[in-house]
Amino acid sequence: MVKKRKRILSGMRPTGKTHLGHLHGILENWRDLQDEYECFYFAADWHALTSEYKNTAVIKESLTEMIIDWLSVGLDPQRSTLFVQSWVKEHAELHLLLSMITPLSWLERNPTYKEQQEELADKDIGTYGFLGYPVLQAADILIYKGDYVPVGKDQLPHLEITREIARRFNYLYQETFPPPEALLTDVPNLGGTDGRKMSKSYDNAIFISDPADMLALKIEQMVTDPQRGYRKDPGDPDVCGLFPYHRIYSDSDVVAEIDTECRRAGIGCKDCKQMLLKKLEAYLAPIQEKRQHYLTHLAEVDEIIHEGTRRAQEVARQTMVEVREAIGM
Ligand code: TRP
Ligand code: SF4
Repeated sequence: MVKKRKRILSGMRPTGKTHLGHLHGILENWRDLQDEYECFYFAADWHALTSEYKNTAVIKESLTEMIIDWLSVGLDPQRSTLFVQSWVKEHAELHLLLSMITPLSWLERNPTYKEQQEELADKDIGTYGFLGYPVLQAADILIYKGDYVPVGKDQLPHLEITREIARRFNYLYQETFPPPEALLTDVPNLGGTDGRKMSKSYDNAIFISDPADMLALKIEQMVTDPQRGYRKDPGDPDVCGLFPYHRIYSDSDVVAEIDTECRRAGIGCKDCKQMLLKKLEAYLAPIQEKRQHYLTHLAEVDEIIHEGTRRAQEVARQTMVEVREAIGM
């Protein structure tokens, strides 16, 4: 008998352009997982709405572009199911049903709830919908009975709530949902141009769609070792915001050379940045070429999303039949 491949499920919120943090922290990982798993990847537009409900235009603008970015990076619609959360209404029904059995205390003590409230202080997210964010996420995952969920560390509390909800459902009604496991992704430590965490709200992100002149400008502005005021001052790659990028884009012998030369002022930041820029451009070129293709063939993208949604819906509908039966409604 052919062993069934384990199922992966993950989502991303369409709240802006894709940056290098998304690319190396999430998307390349999603791409590689396709070789081993049956993958479901979706645009979590309802999750985006929890924080962007006053500015819904950004969701619409980012949605198609985000999926174009996925395709350009190598997510393969033949092998993976790519879809939009809000097009599969069953997520909403399961969210509602799971909300009946989810104790408020689980949501109130969720650490990301408090963190996000502070981080997004400019947005009013003291809403019912935002509190229920992890319940909706649980519905997303459980409706496909995902075995693994690739996520960054910040999402672990959400996954734990998903597991608790699954266990509670199974206990109250019938064994229905296998509690999914997190697949922790190794996120490279790529800071933004100002040295802080890369984020669109800090205006320090490098986007995969940035044209060559924009890339040049951003790399030029990038914060390096602050102790290195002059060319003759030795530097320390360990505290330089640029060096982690070399680790990704440059060959290992070059990385080692920069590491040594920087420490004895054998190389200047200007040259170091030029070297990086060349590598980054070369890395992004094929991705940007594919983006251009999809941007000018939107009907093709549309068809991919529709087909993915059809496939997702088939699974979601089947699960909901089981769920209603288990609950007895
Ligand atoms: N909360 C996730 C994030 O911000 C997005 C998300 C929504 C998700 N539903 C999901 C991730 C289900 C994994 C599985 O990154
Ligand atoms: Fe950073 Fe390179 Fe300058 Fe060293 S030479 S501080 S690694 S940019």
